[in-house]
Amino acid sequence: MGDADAANPDDIFTIENYDNPENYDNPAWGRTAGGSMDIACHYLYIVDNLLDASHVALVHVSSFAGAGTGNLPLDIEKLDDGVIVSRWVLDAAPPPHDAPILPFPGDCDHKQHYECRLPSTAFNMSIYTRAGTGGDDANLPDDSFINISYNFMTPVDADNTRYFWFQHRNSQPDNEEISRQMFEGAKTAFIEDREVLTEVHHGMKESRTRHINLGIDAGAMRFRKMVERRIAAKVLRA
Ligand SMILES: [Fe+2]
Repeated sequence: MGDADAANPDDIFTIENYDNPENYDNPAWGRTAGGSMDIACHYLYIVDNLLDASHVALVHVSSFAGAGTGNLPLDIEKLDDGVIVSRWVLDAAPPPHDAPILPFPGDCDHKQHYECRLPSTAFNMSIYTRAGTGGDDANLPDDSFINISYNFMTPVDADNTRYFWFQHRNSQPDNEEISRQMFEGAKTAFIEDREVLTEVHHGMKESRTRHINLGIDAGAMRFRKMVERRIAAKVLRA
């Protein structure tokens, strides 16, 4: 998109442990095959979704929803080029999709980290530790499990987006069965997201009632303001 001469490769988001020159393709980390799908919605609705921790309990009921996440407050951190929405869920059963992949049994402390960088690169990081060992001030134990879901939204036009993703984890890098399970789990979830996002796009276009933002939308609204400002600045320079 846009003016190719104005593109700056230094602005491309660096993926820690994968394409960081100081730590290229870290052998301790395993990744799933990349996937992609077209979604008939504006790309910022996918960004909204990826910054919205609350949708998991409603849209991914049987897979990624975990116990007791409904009303826990979220921290919002503003970066120069993005936002982070996060929270620790302490001493709870892991979500059904992740439970078989964890290196330890039983309940856990779980950090949900939703981050989006300009223009539309989002990653969701999950950190799992044994119950009682997580939290903001904790030193993470050696058997902590980290999975990062990277999401790259490329607008096709105002009504369509090509959505790319892969998952990256800090354990069992050569276990192809885990890679396959994680790929399938993510794809199943993204198909659930696609159904909702297509209806959101349609509903917002045809909206006949006032639009109300909730407190939980704060992260996505901050990110949208950043995108608007960046677009306005480019238009003014042209
Ligand atoms: Fe989702």
